[in-house]
Amino acid sequence: MAGRIPPEFIDDLLARTDIVDLIGTRIQLRKAGKDFQARCPFHDEKTPSFTVSPDKQFYHCFGCGAHGTAIGFLMEYDHLAFREAVDELARHAGLEVPSDGEVVRTGPDHGPLFELMRQAADFYRQQLREPAQAARAVEYLKERGFTGEMAARFEIGFAPARGDPLLNRFGTSAATIGRLLDCGLIAEQDGRRYDRFRDRVMFPIRDRRGRIIGFGGRILGDGKPKYLNSPETPIFHKGRELYGLFEAGQANRKLASLVVVEGYLDVIALAQFGITNAVATLGTATTLEHLHQLLRSVPDLVFCFDGDRAGRDAAWKALETALPLATGHQSMRFLFLPDGEDPDTLVRKEGAEGFSARLAKARSLSDFLFEHLSDQVDMTSLDGRARIAHLAKPLIERLPQGLYRDLVLKRVADLTGLASQPPARQVRAKRRGGAPGRPMRLSLVAQSIALLLDHPRLVSELESVEDDWRRLPNPGIDILARLLDSLRESPDMTKAMLLERWREHPHFSYLRRLSVDPFLRDVSAEGAPAELAGALSRLSAEAREMEWRRPLNKRSTTEWTEEDRALLAERDAESSRTRRDDAL
Ligand code: GTP
Ligand code: MN
Repeated sequence: MAGRIPPEFIDDLLARTDIVDLIGTRIQLRKAGKDFQARCPFHDEKTPSFTVSPDKQFYHCFGCGAHGTAIGFLMEYDHLAFREAVDELARHAGLEVPSDGEVVRTGPDHGPLFELMRQAADFYRQQLREPAQAARAVEYLKERGFTGEMAARFEIGFAPARGDPLLNRFGTSAATIGRLLDCGLIAEQDGRRYDRFRDRVMFPIRDRRGRIIGFGGRILGDGKPKYLNSPETPIFHKGRELYGLFEAGQANRKLASLVVVEGYLDVIALAQFGITNAVATLGTATTLEHLHQLLRSVPDLVFCFDGDRAGRDAAWKALETALPLATGHQSMRFLFLPDGEDPDTLVRKEGAEGFSARLAKARSLSDFLFEHLSDQVDMTSLDGRARIAHLAKPLIERLPQGLYRDLVLKRVADLTGLASQPPARQVRAKRRGGAPGRPMRLSLVAQSIALLLDHPRLVSELESVEDDWRRLPNPGIDILARLLDSLRESPDMTKAMLLERWREHPHFSYLRRLSVDPFLRDVSAEGAPAELAGALSRLSAEAREMEWRRPLNKRSTTEWTEEDRALLAERDAESSRTRRDDAL
């Protein structure tokens, strides 16, 4: 596990990254003044309100409010975790991500287990090339029509029938035997240890980074159990991993969609026919973790299921799992195959073209949802249609709030002829966000923070501004002070670098929002220095005023201290110059 990434590295990374390049390889940007524009990738729109600023190294959509740095963009658009986004940018910049010496481990070091799995995979692969051992296995794969190229790409191997070769070869010490057990490569019963996989074609399962984490082993021909999979181990969690995801990433520079199938051999057959973007769950139902993993990789998913009863049930289960993630920004579609076929048999019959044509016609999530519900009621009767609304309600409630949910609600209304009522919660949520035309007025502290975040170079123009504001107890003063201090130390930071420094802070998302507050739109670049200086001096005046008032707030003059009296004297000297400004 990696430790915390030093902030200086993030600065360096952002300095070597151009957000315009980064976003430009994903969506078409058009130059507009000193910025770049596009139709927003995060919401549907006809006219471009998505802006990328090379100066600020920051993107912002005036339509939906999406905004962030290069790291943030990768997190949102490519669905990467923070660390993955940093890794991705570092790879592009040719940098190696350091950790700051003191490595924070989030768990035990699984390095040796990965290493052992790698060695086991190499061993199985080598065995497939031994005619004495593996002639039947090679014959079986050939019979089923798999090429040597696919065997190589998927690192297919063979576990010999006799003896315990893995145990004998790698189990040379108590420590390595322990690891073989931990990895699930050997099993133990009544004190006897033996190789788990025997006389099986071996499919290594890789994680997103290509590390081998498990195996699926298929019997040659018929027999039971047909497959033996690695058990859950410290590095293998069936409900999280997808077979073929790494290979799909290797075969496609940019994945646009993924096809989710059931079997290892479906993935491999599709790849052999040129459909290199298939992945399989590992004999389990599609979990929420799978979906997160998948949607992090691509904006379009097609789930393939058998057309039979069991396939339909599995598909419905997948739909129910997917509901909370259905935003409409990404599509999740459902493809039902003819009875008795799986992607392997079908692609061999119809070729890539036939299979792709089916994929193109996959049903949308909402189509499948309504189709499934319609099957359960009599759509010709008013009662039946009312029942649809009733059945759909709990499902729709699981959709995230937003445009997509509204569309599905409207569809219920159209289908049933009943008016839909937007749930009360939604109305409230909208109001809380503030009407776009009338943004909530920001406090002076918040305005100052927003200005600094949006124009970090302003710091160089604040030399002569008083510092009294630092003594105010107002919320946010500490943040403002820290921002200003860090900018004084490194005045060349871009908006992106500055914000990334705050990512770990509990108020990060608030700061990010402040940095694009509509208030900033009314401040021109030329006007910004005066605006910020003005805000800070008003805050300073407020601080002095508050301190001056302190004696006056005491119940009697007998409570005045020496210091209070001094303050009052000073105040008299200042005459009545004090201003009453906006309270925060
Ligand atoms: P073929 O039947 O050889 O075409 O393999 P397949 O990969 O198409 O498998 P199938 O569609 O029958 O099953 C889908 C997936 O379910 C497999 O890839 C396995 O992950 C899992 N699976 C199937 N049979 C078994 C079994 O007997 N035991 C276990 N543990 N998993 C199985
Ligand atoms: Mn099959």
